[in-house]
Parts: sequence; C-alpha cells; structure tokens
Amino acid sequence: MNNYIKIKNLTKKYEKNKSIKVLNNITFNFEPGKTYSIMGPSGSGKSTLLNLLSLIDNPTAGSIEISKNKINSNNVKNDFIRAKKIGIIYQDKNLLSDFTALENVYLPHLLVSKEKQKSIELAKKLIKNVGMSSKINYFPNELSGGENQRIAIARALINNPDIILADEPTGSLDSDNAKLIFKILFDLKNKNRIIIFATHNRYFANMADCKIMMNDGNMQIINDTI
Ligand SMILES: Nc1ncnc2c1ncn2[C@@H]1O[C@H](COP(=O)(O)OP(=O)(O)O)[C@@H](O)[C@H]1O
Ligand SMILES: [Mg+2]
Repeated sequence: MNNYIKIKNLTKKYEKNKSIKVLNNITFNFEPGKTYSIMGPSGSGKSTLLNLLSLIDNPTAGSIEISKNKINSNNVKNDFIRAKKIGIIYQDKNLLSDFTALENVYLPHLLVSKEKQKSIELAKKLIKNVGMSSKINYFPNELSGGENQRIAIARALINNPDIILADEPTGSLDSDNAKLIFKILFDLKNKNRIIIFATHNRYFANMADCKIMMNDGNMQIINDTI
C-alpha cells in the first residue's frame, strides 16, 4: 500500500484553553481507495483534525505519517508534501480574489512544475471537467458560491493529489449545488486516493465508505462498508 495516512495518539490543545483536549489521543489509519466522512457537532474538532492532516497546524502530541513521510512540525518539507500530495477545499474563500478562475487553478501547478503553458493547459482541462469553461476569466466575486466551489475543486486537483481534504465544502451552498459538488467529489475517488470530508449533512456523510463521528475530541467509527 503506497498511499496512506496514519495518525497515532494525536492530541491537540490550544494555547487559549489548555485544559481542553480538542483532539484526545486519536489513533487511526486512513486507507487509499476510500472516502471518509467526518460528522459531529460544531466545535467537536472536525476542522482541527483536517487542519492537522493538511499539515497547516501542528499537533500538541502524537504523530502523523503520510505515505512513509513522518511529519515533523515546522518542517519546510511539509509545504512540499502538501503541495504535491494534498488537495484542500474549504467551505468558502478558497480562491485568491485578485486572480481569475483560470489563474487560481493553474498557479499551484506553476509553483511546483515551473511550466506555465503546461499548467494553463492542465487547468483548462480540470475547469472543463467541473463544467466551468465559459467562466475561466471571471474573478471569484463574479462567480456564484457553487461556481466558486467548482473552481476550488479544480484548483485542489491541479497537482493530482493522493489526498483530498474538504472541510464542509457545501456548507454555504443550496442543496442542488451541494449535490453537484458531492457528485464531483465522489467521482474523484480512485484506488490510490484518500478523500476525507467534514459535513453536517447526513445524506452526504452516508455516501462515504467510512463514517467518522467526532465528539468531545474523540473519534468514533460508525461503520466501515469496505
Ligand atoms: N485557533 C484556536 N484557538 C483556540 N481554540 C480553538 C482554535 N481553533 C479551534 N478552537 C477550539 O477547538 C474546538 C474545536 O474547533 P473546530 O475544530 O473548529 O470544530 P468543528 O470544526 O468541529 O466545528 C472548539 O472548541 C474551538 O473553540
Ligand atoms: Mg469546522
């Protein structure tokens, strides 16, 4: 198995309230080819977990290993691992407001590949896949919420990530757009890829292969269908 995420005894406390373990000693393996949904009440640690997995934040204790890379806090290598291996989609504000849809999508690839023309061609292809070709030159504030998220998905995919992390990606969308985004997200499933998303929507959560429930910093597996 060449792609995996192993978290071991992962614990997170914040400076502001050190007595609360936002994540409490979590051990779990995420496996390739599977989709994982994370549910749980507001404040239960969903975003905290996703921020640790995306190497944006550091754990207070415990370890993360991504496909043989042992993650050390504040390692410059983390930025490289994130850029190459992880695609991230948030609820909103995914895109840089001063750049067009096309620029938003191709820039992360340009940073890694240094090949502008190739990056643009690839970005156009991905934008086409999410049905947004007619708006490549629009700025984020000229796009609807659903359109922003479709571009955000194209952007998250530009470096062909092994891991896709989505934190309530449809939290600000109406139900038709939410369905479309989740359809696109589930279509991205492949045997090497790990897709993890947080949602408050039971229907979308149930579509995942593995359902995780967060509660008071603890993680409970609801069922594992594969
Ligand atoms: N930067 C921070 N500083 C202090 N506390 C934080 C910070 N980020 C999150 N928290 C706290 O951690 C808990 C979990 O937050 P979060 O992971 O955002 O939950 P969820 O995404 O499930 O709503 C909350 O109680 C929140 O107040
Ligand atoms: Mg959250």
